[in-house]
Amino acid sequence: MQGFLESNDVVAVVESAANDRRMIKAHVKVHIGGVPAAVEAYRNSPTPNLIVLESSADRSVLFEQLALLAECCDSGTKVMVIGHENDILLYRELIYRGVSDYIVAPMNILDFIGHISALYNGESSETLGRVIAVVGAKGGVGASTVCHNLAWSISRQLALQTVLVDLDLAFGTVGLDFNQDPPQGIAEAIFSPERLDANFIDRLASRCSDTLSILPAPATLDRSYDLSEHAVDATLDILRATTPCVILDVPHQWCAWTRRVLVGCDDVVIVASPDLANLRNTKTLIDSLNASRLNDHPPRLILNMVGLPRRPEISLGEFAKAMEMEPLGVIPFEARLFGAAANNGQMLAEVDPRSKIIETIDDAGQLLMGRAIVRRGKNPCSRPSSSD
Ligand SMILES: Nc1ncnc2c1ncn2[C@@H]1O[C@H](COP(=O)(O)OP(=O)(O)OP(=O)(O)O)[C@@H](O)[C@H]1O
Ligand SMILES: [Mg+2]
Repeated sequence: MQGFLESNDVVAVVESAANDRRMIKAHVKVHIGGVPAAVEAYRNSPTPNLIVLESSADRSVLFEQLALLAECCDSGTKVMVIGHENDILLYRELIYRGVSDYIVAPMNILDFIGHISALYNGESSETLGRVIAVVGAKGGVGASTVCHNLAWSISRQLALQTVLVDLDLAFGTVGLDFNQDPPQGIAEAIFSPERLDANFIDRLASRCSDTLSILPAPATLDRSYDLSEHAVDATLDILRATTPCVILDVPHQWCAWTRRVLVGCDDVVIVASPDLANLRNTKTLIDSLNASRLNDHPPRLILNMVGLPRRPEISLGEFAKAMEMEPLGVIPFEARLFGAAANNGQMLAEVDPRSKIIETIDDAGQLLMGRAIVRRGKNPCSRPSSSD
C-alpha cells in the first residue's frame, strides 16, 4: 500500500495503522503531496495493490487528477480516497469513477484498518473468529489448566464453536486433560504447510463435544520443535476464518514465534501466581505486549494458585497495583480439585460443578468474548466488553 497524503493528522493515522498488528502483512509507504504526487510517481513505474490518496481539492480538480492517475494505474490496483467532505454524492461519484472506497477525515486508526480489510475480505470479514492466547508468567503456574477450562467454558456457556490449540508441542497436556489420545493434532498442521487448508485442519481436530474441538500437541520427543517465526501463521489464519473462538495454550517461552502469536492474537491472558518472579515477568510481558499492541486491550491477568498453604505471597492488592489493572479472575490453590481433574482427564466443572472456581472461569470466558455476564437467579451484571 502506498499513501499520498496531505495533512499531518492523516499521515499520523496511516503510519500508526501501518504499525498495528492487523496490518502486519502489509508493506506500507507514506508520501506527501496528495494525488499530484501519485500521478508523478506512477508515470513510469508500476502501481501497488492499493493507493491511498488524501485530497482536499475541489471536486472537479480531484476528478481531473484521478483521471490522470487512472491512465497510469495497473489493472488490479485499488484506489482509496480520504477526503474532508462528508457528502454522499461525492462518494457515489468517486465509486462510479472506479475508486474502491472514500473515507472522510478525521478517522481513527481502527476505522481506517477496517476500511482496508473490507476491501480485501469483503463479506467474509464478518465471520472472523476471536483468537485468545493464554500464557503463564512462569512455568507451572497453571496456565494450561486455566486455558483448557476457559475453552471448555466458552464452548458450553456461550454455545460457540471453539477450538483449543496446544502449542506446547513437546509437553502439552490438552490430550491428557480431555482424556483423548488422537494420532494427529497441531503438529501435522504446522509441519505439513503444503497440505494446509480448512478441510485438512478439520480432519486433524478431535471433537470433545458438539461445540469444542481440540488440536492436541504430539507430546513426544522423537524430534525437536524449533519453530520458525511464521510457523503457525497459516494454521491460525485458517482457524480464525473458520471458527468463532480459537483458544491457544502458549508455552512459557519468549522466542520469535511465541512472541508473534502473542502480539497477533485478539486477547492475551497471562496466568500468574502471586510471587516476586511472577510479578516481575507479568510486568515485563504486559509492557512488551502493550508496546506492540498499541490499539488493543492490554493483556488480561488471571491470578492462580492463590493461598497456597504456608507460602508467603504478594497480596492481590499489591499485585494489581503493580500491574495497574484488576485481575480478570482470581483462582485459589485447591490441590484436591485440580489434582482430581488432572489425573482423571476431566475439566474442573466435571469434577465439582458447584465450585466457586467454575463461576470465575465462566465469567472470565464471557468477558473475553465480549459478553455481559448473566447468571441464573441473579441480576444481570454488565461488564465492559473488549476493545475490538
Ligand atoms: N489453582 C490450582 N490449585 C492447585 N493446583 C493447580 C492449580 N492450578 C493448576 N494446578 C496444578 O498445577 C499443575 C501445573 O499446571 P499446568 O500444567 O496447567 O501449568 P502450566 O503453567 O501450563 O505449566 P507449564 O509451564 O509446564 O506449561 C497441574 O498439576 C495442575 O493440576
Ligand atoms: Mg502449560
